[in-house]
Amino acid sequence: MYELVVKDIKKTFTLSKKQQKIEKTDQKRKVAVDKLSFTAHPGEIYGLLGPNGAGKTTALRCISTLIKPDEGDININGLSVKHDSLEIRKHIAFLTSELKLDDFFTPNYLFRYFSNLHGLDEATMHERKAKLFNRFGIEKFQEVKVGDLSTGMKQKLSIAIALVHDPAIIIFDEPTNGLDILTARSVINYLLEMKTEGKTIIISTHILDVVEKLCDKVGIIIDGTLQVDGTLSSIKTNSKDGTLETLFFDLMEEKVGEDHA
Ligand SMILES: Nc1ncnc2c1ncn2[C@@H]1O[C@H](COP(=O)(O)OP(=O)(O)O)[C@@H](O)[C@H]1O
Ligand SMILES: [Mg+2]
Repeated sequence: MYELVVKDIKKTFTLSKKQQKIEKTDQKRKVAVDKLSFTAHPGEIYGLLGPNGAGKTTALRCISTLIKPDEGDININGLSVKHDSLEIRKHIAFLTSELKLDDFFTPNYLFRYFSNLHGLDEATMHERKAKLFNRFGIEKFQEVKVGDLSTGMKQKLSIAIALVHDPAIIIFDEPTNGLDILTARSVINYLLEMKTEGKTIIISTHILDVVEKLCDKVGIIIDGTLQVDGTLSSIKTNSKDGTLETLFFDLMEEKVGEDHA
């Protein structure tokens, strides 16, 4: 059982000339995440909700040890992303709906490859494969090259592969983005199932409905900063009409107001 504590993380990017153009700014640096803190507990799904560009992916990449925060730290059972990133990687999975599997390989080959990377023994590899391939309906396709799989099947395979090592902490960036509705539904159901197994789950999304369906706790992030953080039911009490939607849009408007002040 792993608790994850994000404490005051800050991440700044240096913008290239081209990026400055895209971002419509003449500033050379962009603060993507600013003093972000929250805690995610085992058996709960924590959702970072925010518009595009809010800093969600950056925060999740810091947690997954893919990039280092400039300031602050993230702790998992006493381990720090700053000093123990290799150890932390054994306990987390970073999932995204963006595909990166090579067309040439088969599900069996890829599953074995990633099991070996994680140092699983043969018996554990077979046990995990049976469970995950069964869960996502991949068995029938285990010897079919990725290039010949449907988009939904590729996505399910990339999720199965990310979970080979049965990690305690699951980090999923925009879990339903780009997925067809059947795949999205099976991913949502699987996240709920992992929650009941006591996993610590953190997702990011810009979709209110995903938060309503999945999350126990929510942090609303706008422009790199966390505006509210709490249980879904408790943050709704801050909303004029008791809905997440009204709270979210009121916070967005406040922020836009500030930026133009
Ligand atoms: N590698 C990078 N270099 C420069 N700017 C970046 C980089 N990654 C993200 N950003 C910027 O940081 C901000 C937050 O991005 P991101 O974390 O991807 O937001 P979100 O996932 O909420 O859409 C955006 O303005 C984005 O353009
Ligand atoms: Mg993102």
